[in-house]
Amino acid sequence: MTILKIAKMGHPVLRTPAEPIKPAEISSTEVQTLIEHMIATMEDYDGIGLAAPQIHVSKQLFVAEVPQSRKSDIQELPLTVMINPEVTPDKEDKVLVWEGCLSIPGIRGLVPRYNQITVAYLDHKGQKKTLKASGFLAAVIQHETDHLNGTLFLDRMDSKAPLSFTDEWMKYWGEVQDVQAGTVTFL
Ligand code: NI
Repeated sequence: MTILKIAKMGHPVLRTPAEPIKPAEISSTEVQTLIEHMIATMEDYDGIGLAAPQIHVSKQLFVAEVPQSRKSDIQELPLTVMINPEVTPDKEDKVLVWEGCLSIPGIRGLVPRYNQITVAYLDHKGQKKTLKASGFLAAVIQHETDHLNGTLFLDRMDSKAPLSFTDEWMKYWGEVQDVQAGTVTFL
């Protein structure tokens, strides 16, 4: 296992649309090793999602794991690899979710996200899968899919007013996170 270096905002790889992975390549040692290293890196940083461009690889792949314990009423996601994901909103309504990003350390923002989505993707074995996600998990999947299209959560914010450094967020915004129907995390 190798812990990979994380690309920070300003690195062009984070603004470059990532290349789809050919299904026949998924079983290759190169892709399987990349997946292993990305999982190790996500866990080392206590992240719950990590997209390949964040470790300087411009391919359409992310890993994510949302444990139930993070917040009692959120939809759980076991450790999952999503390759070439396509997100479709099931409904137009959006919710505000507090997000952080390993590529934008120390910053949190309140981001409007579709509340109910369907994501179609290939898993780590190249199998076609679809998943319906809502609430926080839907936001995680939208955040990671955005990374594959060169988009960061800052781009999605309607207002920059809630943008906070972590210390100030804890002091001034932490208490209202439930009221805002969101939570905070690092993706
Ligand atoms: Ni991120």
